[in-house]
Amino acid sequence: MVGIEKHTSTYKVNHTELKKWVQQIVEQCQPERVHWCDGSKEEYDVLCKELVEKGTFIKLNTEKRPNSYACFSDPSDVARVEDRTFICSRKKEDAGPTNNWVDPKEMKNTLSKLLEGCMKGRTMYVIPFSMGPVGSNISHIGIEITDSEYVVVNMHLMTRVGKKVVDTLGSDGEFVKALHTLGAPLSLGQKDVKWPCNPTTKYIVHYPEERSIVSYGSGYGGNALLGKKCFALRIASSMAEEEGWLAEHMLILGVESPDKEKTYVAAAFPSACGKTNFAMLIPPKEFAGWKVTTVGDDIAWIKPGKDGRLHAINPEAGYFGVAPGTNTKSNPNAMLTISKNTIFTNVAVTDDGDVWWEGMTKEAPKNLTDWRGQKWDPASGKPAAHPNARFTAPASQCPSIDSDWENHNGVPISAFIFGGRRSNTIPLIYQAHNWNYGVYLAATMGSEMTAAAFGEVGKVRRDPFAMLPFCGYHMGDYFNHWLQFGRDIPNPPRIFGVNWFRKDDKGNFSWPGFGDNMRVLKWIVEKVRGKSNAVESPIGWMPHYEDIDWTGLDFSKQQFDEIMVIDREQWKTELHSHAELFERMYDRLPKEFIFMRELLLSSLWRSPEKWSVEGE
Ligand code: OXD
Ligand code: MN
Repeated sequence: MVGIEKHTSTYKVNHTELKKWVQQIVEQCQPERVHWCDGSKEEYDVLCKELVEKGTFIKLNTEKRPNSYACFSDPSDVARVEDRTFICSRKKEDAGPTNNWVDPKEMKNTLSKLLEGCMKGRTMYVIPFSMGPVGSNISHIGIEITDSEYVVVNMHLMTRVGKKVVDTLGSDGEFVKALHTLGAPLSLGQKDVKWPCNPTTKYIVHYPEERSIVSYGSGYGGNALLGKKCFALRIASSMAEEEGWLAEHMLILGVESPDKEKTYVAAAFPSACGKTNFAMLIPPKEFAGWKVTTVGDDIAWIKPGKDGRLHAINPEAGYFGVAPGTNTKSNPNAMLTISKNTIFTNVAVTDDGDVWWEGMTKEAPKNLTDWRGQKWDPASGKPAAHPNARFTAPASQCPSIDSDWENHNGVPISAFIFGGRRSNTIPLIYQAHNWNYGVYLAATMGSEMTAAAFGEVGKVRRDPFAMLPFCGYHMGDYFNHWLQFGRDIPNPPRIFGVNWFRKDDKGNFSWPGFGDNMRVLKWIVEKVRGKSNAVESPIGWMPHYEDIDWTGLDFSKQQFDEIMVIDREQWKTELHSHAELFERMYDRLPKEFIFMRELLLSSLWRSPEKWSVEGE
């Protein structure tokens, strides 16, 4: 037996299967020590201190950024690795055409060779964590085993860690097994590097039937913090299909009107569409008495309640947000959230121990250290912070946090919003006539790519429900699950499409966005409450110019018309692209979608070539 005598734990574990699994991983990965995490502040502080001593963490200026750290990753380890992400269901058909698949037996074979002795010279941490408030019926438990201190401290912020979770598990509770290793063993006496990882071999593997995850070779973000994309989306989406609930790539926010009525909505946007900004929106000052509160910024778990409504929680306890572009104008609440107790990864560091990134201020401070740990040369043309630089911060620090964000019953959802980044075709706002068409709208959403990593910049990538990289099973089955889900509830939430990113002929954004998105949100909320008007367009219900509250914004009828116009030629291209998506997953595509596409086509042909709200 290796290392097992060097267990440190402040609590007793009575769960036979958990103890057996940990023992098996100890024997396979051969760590030097095993530490069972208790989630305490002391544990966090000790590990941060260790990370500072190792040179991984830089302690930031305690006055400017109290109790905060910055670190720089290895340049080979800066983002999620979609091409190294696998859904290893027993049958290939169950992973579907949008996921990488390898036979689980073959994958286990490959991984077992890599895992043999992979934690040599390191401490293995066992992290019991709850996704969602501990003990809530909507929450689920996971155990992450990792050999990375960076992962432990980030998990402290992103999830609920510790003894309470082990107590909730009892002797036979269900949990998701999440094994993570940097894939960088240390031989006797070998000095560690600042950001250990395996620069050449990475695997992010999911076994949906077993509800387990193995991540090898990366220490970064969604590859390593396994509660987030791996568990809360890929594994959870497959659990949700089996058990009749939803695990979605959605923010959750509450809108309170001056009469104190509160309406909650959940919204899905692909990566790089300003989800965190929308989740923490501050209404324009003219909207006296209107308030937006934040429940979550990335993931929603939604279960039908006994009252027939849908109840949603944010399974996470922190934000792992993209730093570049965040500033006191674009997202003042996020800037306040990250003012203390925050870990920054791949940002630039100032000479007085604070952080900076592109878009934080107009002018970059002098003497920056860039994300590669070098003196930054502004003339180099290279950014000081990596474009995917991140902050990890506790959700409780968000000034707009909703008072019910930890309510065990979740919050009731009245509307779903879907939006991508589209410079044309898709209007600012429209509402699906019914649930089935709403599912079609969400299934066919697309977004123009902003990072070359995914393909040609500017090209539309279909990203159904913003779940393309996160759906743990066949996307066609996922659509069917959504359709069935709507049939099973008495009064399903209304479904809306939005597009903040439409551009004019000169290539400038036509819509101010940010806080002004409140104008659209107000129409949505009042529509759900049966208070706002709408007109029927070829693609759904839309507001007239007069139906939107323009107080405090100079935005003409003509400007509104321009971002609402339905251009038949553009929509023909759009519908071709829907057909291409459908062909990819035809084996399990809901056949309703074929008819809905036909209906859309015929309604576009019956309408003017350029249909306009004001023409009605
Ligand atoms: C994220 C993403 O990091 O969606 O949240 O990529
Ligand atoms: Mn996300």
